[in-house]
Amino acid sequence: MSDLEIMQSDWLARIDAAADLPALETERVAALGKQGAITQLLKTLGGMTPDERQAQGPRIHALREKVAEALSARRAVLEAAQLESKLATETLDMTLPVSTGPQGSVHPVSQVMDELAEIFADLGFSVANGPEIEDQWYNFTALNMPESHPARAMHDTFYLTAPEGEEAKVLRTHTSPVQVRTMTSQKPPIRIIAPGRTYRSDSDATHTPMFHQVEGLVIDRGIHMGHLKWTLETFLKAFFERDDIVLRLRPSYFPFTEPSAEVDVGYTVQNGRRVLGGSEGWMELLGSGMVHPRVIAACGLDPDEYQGFAFGCGIDRLAMLKYGMDDLRAFFDGDLRWLRHYGFASLAIPTLSGGVGA
Ligand code: DAH
Repeated sequence: MSDLEIMQSDWLARIDAAADLPALETERVAALGKQGAITQLLKTLGGMTPDERQAQGPRIHALREKVAEALSARRAVLEAAQLESKLATETLDMTLPVSTGPQGSVHPVSQVMDELAEIFADLGFSVANGPEIEDQWYNFTALNMPESHPARAMHDTFYLTAPEGEEAKVLRTHTSPVQVRTMTSQKPPIRIIAPGRTYRSDSDATHTPMFHQVEGLVIDRGIHMGHLKWTLETFLKAFFERDDIVLRLRPSYFPFTEPSAEVDVGYTVQNGRRVLGGSEGWMELLGSGMVHPRVIAACGLDPDEYQGFAFGCGIDRLAMLKYGMDDLRAFFDGDLRWLRHYGFASLAIPTLSGGVGA
């Protein structure tokens, strides 16, 4: 047997003996890798005389070919064996009961937002959005709160650090800037609600630094307080799913509305619990009013031509009143037990016909 034949049977035996894929890879590197024995052999061709090369060249190339073939054949065998053993060990018990479905649930705040969208869609409102990191102009100035206005201080605003020479942005303190964004980007008639996150530096049993509001805005010709009251009554009757909801509008002050009204909802006491409906007592629910002519003008509309009403309401409070939670902070703890108790099935989508609070 020539040296090359001995070498070939030697390599084929080694490849055949490789027990698993890593061992086979070691053999491949030893034979055909950069420093491998056969690669080195191929390199000797360069130093041979043309005659020698003509004789040895085809033989060395044939050896290389055989070894490469043996490597891939062995690889196929070892891969098949690996799959077989995986299939044998990773068994699936087909008699196990099927999974009980999705484990998560819809947070009450998300649920209430869906309910609001459903109710207001029926009244011809669409849902508008704005950024949570907001320019002071949208959050304050355009809403008739110029720089020196005391209401700016009342909002316990979170200011972001601004680059040199730029005005600081804020985490929006209310959803009212979406009024401005809508009026500056759409033509009247406008009917929108804008639910979303809002931020103030405040924290106790009834305040969290992040909370949720929904803004409502209607802009058209000939809009008056009667439209506002009817809209709020219709909304709250649908939301609380009761016909005996009574509202009380109390004169109030907001820089962006004139006149302004705070809206209370009546309740009755049953077995020591406050139940919405009737008018034995009142609880404050939301702020509202006729959009201030200055706000309309700041948005580029003519206040002599267009009027409108707006309202702003805490969504977390709406959820608490409707679904009976009493601690706001638990809303944002991410405690799965709380969510399992108060959450909603992901496919129970609110509809007016099926019930918004299904
Ligand atoms: N933005 C007010 C707040 O956060 C709530 C509010 C009051 C909104 C009256 C309105 C409104 O649109 O008309 O306290």
